[in-house]
Amino acid sequence: LIFLVSSLLYRVSLMMKPQVVFVLGGPGAGKGTQCSKIVENYSYTHLSAGDLLRAERAREGSEFGQLIANYIKEGKIVPVEITINLLRKAMEETMEKDAKKFRFLIDGFPRNEDNLQGWNTVMDGKADVKFVLFFDCSNEVCIHRCLERGKSSGRTDDNRESLEKRIQTYLQSTRPIIELYEKHGKVRTIDASRSVDEVSK
Ligand code: ADP
Ligand code: C5P
Ligand code: MG
Repeated sequence: LIFLVSSLLYRVSLMMKPQVVFVLGGPGAGKGTQCSKIVENYSYTHLSAGDLLRAERAREGSEFGQLIANYIKEGKIVPVEITINLLRKAMEETMEKDAKKFRFLIDGFPRNEDNLQGWNTVMDGKADVKFVLFFDCSNEVCIHRCLERGKSSGRTDDNRESLEKRIQTYLQSTRPIIELYEKHGKVRTIDASRSVDEVSK
């Protein structure tokens, strides 16, 4: 009986363990757009690190608001201690509300070595990373899409000056992370330069 109960508990714990897909790609590659499409059709919860940071920036009484604002405008990656806590809390809250929601699309993370180390430190053994979904798109298309988005997004970083910095950060810091996962055979690459529907298909 003890064996049965413990093996059942083990199975339940496996079931509850967050199953994670990291979603990466340049700024404006279409990560958010495609994550919404995936959520419509599959039982995934979409967590955008950028969205969580923007919400924390706007939260009254946040001790990190000004720091986050500066980093976002400069296209720099916020120290992971801040981001990982926001992600962990969002995952926990989702699963507390509904235990069946243990599949996550984590969009815009890990974006650099610091992000990856922070994830490994805090989440090691607590979540399974299935693979990286990589939206592959030229810098020119990325910049064009962000400038278009900037006409209505109200984002402080959808302008030429911030975009140049964001592209630099992407090339210098995020691409090496994608390459690292590539070496382990854990990247699924999508041609993100095509139309929303084609990419989605
Ligand atoms: P990301 O989350 O990667 O920064 P978004 O999903 O916010 O990118 O998309 C950036 C902008 O480009 C948005 O204005 C979006 O409507 C638009 N967009 C997204 N995917 C495509 C696509 N395949 N073709 C053209 N425009 C797109
Ligand atoms: O992914 P998104 O385009 O929304 O990210 C906007 C900005 O948020 C980034 O340019 C960066 O300044 C910040 N960010 C971060 N760390 C992450 C994700 C986003 O610092 N992991
Ligand atoms: Mg986005």
